[in-house]
Amino acid sequence: MTGKWWQNKIVYQIYPKSFLDTDGDGFGDLRGIISRLDYLKDLGADILWLCPIYPSPLVDGGYDISDYYGIDPRYGTMDDMDELIAEAKKRDMYILMDLVVNHCSDQHEWFKKACEDPDGKYGHFFYLRNQSEGLPTNWRGHFGSRVWDPLPGTDRQYLHLFAKEQPDLNWENPELREEIYKMINWWLDKGLAGFRIDAIVNIKKPPFVNYEADRKDGLCSIHVPFAHADTEGLGAFLAEMKEKTFAPHDAFTVAEVAGEYEGLLSDFVGEDGYFSSIFDFRASIFGKSDKGWYDWAEITPDDFRNCCFESQRIIGTDGFYANILENHDQPRGVSRFIPGEDLCDTSKKMLAALYFMLRGIPFIYQGQEIGMENAAIDSMDRVNDVDSIDQYQVALNAGCTQEEALAAVQRLSRDNGRTPMQWNDGQNAGFTRGTPWMDVNRNCKTINVRAQEKDPDSVLNFYKKLIALRKDPDYQETLVYGTLEPIWEDRHSLMAYTRTGDRTLLVVGNYQKKAQSIEPDAPVKKILINNYPDVDTEGNSITLKSYQVLILEL
Ligand code: NOJ
Repeated sequence: MTGKWWQNKIVYQIYPKSFLDTDGDGFGDLRGIISRLDYLKDLGADILWLCPIYPSPLVDGGYDISDYYGIDPRYGTMDDMDELIAEAKKRDMYILMDLVVNHCSDQHEWFKKACEDPDGKYGHFFYLRNQSEGLPTNWRGHFGSRVWDPLPGTDRQYLHLFAKEQPDLNWENPELREEIYKMINWWLDKGLAGFRIDAIVNIKKPPFVNYEADRKDGLCSIHVPFAHADTEGLGAFLAEMKEKTFAPHDAFTVAEVAGEYEGLLSDFVGEDGYFSSIFDFRASIFGKSDKGWYDWAEITPDDFRNCCFESQRIIGTDGFYANILENHDQPRGVSRFIPGEDLCDTSKKMLAALYFMLRGIPFIYQGQEIGMENAAIDSMDRVNDVDSIDQYQVALNAGCTQEEALAAVQRLSRDNGRTPMQWNDGQNAGFTRGTPWMDVNRNCKTINVRAQEKDPDSVLNFYKKLIALRKDPDYQETLVYGTLEPIWEDRHSLMAYTRTGDRTLLVVGNYQKKAQSIEPDAPVKKILINNYPDVDTEGNSITLKSYQVLILEL
């Protein structure tokens, strides 16, 4: 599987609300992104994925879209968007938008018209049932509430798998599908390079039946019905969407597909897959519990390694995972995957190198390149995210104390990844001259772009080296297409693998404070990456210092 334009690219994810505010309203905007294109180019990013910037009541951070053809005025105008696409193009960069078509907002005109006339055209754009039937299913949605609510002003109820302000769209209706495809093509014709595709496996609904309740609310987790999903029916929708939109535009698409669909990897991302790529969430969802965040297990260094290798084994060379350490739905990767007491620039660099050289497309989430850490959430009053508010309540309902419930939110809240980008050590970290929509992390005095640009040993400059290595013509074939072989898997707190193409590289990280030694089975030709100034060797043996990572050519 070679020769697609996106395979050797680096993707940078922007959460526009928190990236850079240029008009002082405390909200990031498109002009902010345009003004930092040179920063992103210099970093080495090729493709920029923008989280939703469409008009939205922002009940779920913009994943509740009220107009698929517009730009929310808080972010700017369509002219700004056109300028962003054009300015990116001048720099050989590409723009992706978020495609959110499992649901829209209850403020979308389709939903408003469905409320006015549930039997009319737009009533069929949603899943409506008579209220007199009672609850059609006892499913608990992704944000903790039941998935059916009364359709305002009518005797019907409608389905929503996420918040009640996010009604699900009825993909069974060909008219709806055509509307979606028209909209996708409109954006692609404008010059977008593709999309990140939200919650897409939800578009094919499982049969509407009840399952055994798993909490006192009498509902069952939404994962239960989806374990019975009609994957063939889903495949038919996805194939049609690809054929009518992405394929004719040669678009890059990366879909949010959870682990349950692993058996269908080649359908999703094989040579003729529905998508270019899907995210590898295995480490991000490690320890997950249907009971709620308070019950999630911690992830250890060995777990992190095993997750990465398990995914690599499953995908092999049949496609390309989108490799991530974090995104806007997760805590910061460095805070999650490095034991708290060991968090420092050296360990952050090690983590970066280990995931970055995996086979697949490396994604960097804004702020990751400077090692941004979790927000210091000290009170629920400061929490914005719907999911976190729900999870706090879930923890209390399960008998946790307020401190324990808050601790769960501190550890896993999506707000951790949504704090404003830390540009400098000035007011509001240089994010806004107004009042930021969300508190800036207090550590911005020490962790910020300006300081790191000046420091050759910063996390930022380390990321630049990793990106430069992946793009180096001497190593690109190996790092993009080469196979990956895990090694020394029985060793504790050591993550090591080879990448083999026209060259052989060894990537090895000592995932702990204590030094440990390795003996590569071939002589080292060259040290390509090292997060220390030197390497301790004796004969064939290399002793890795605390959190040392090396990329060696053998
Ligand atoms: C996944 C998105 O990443 C998340 O932020 C959102 O809440 C849900 N899908 C619903 O759209």
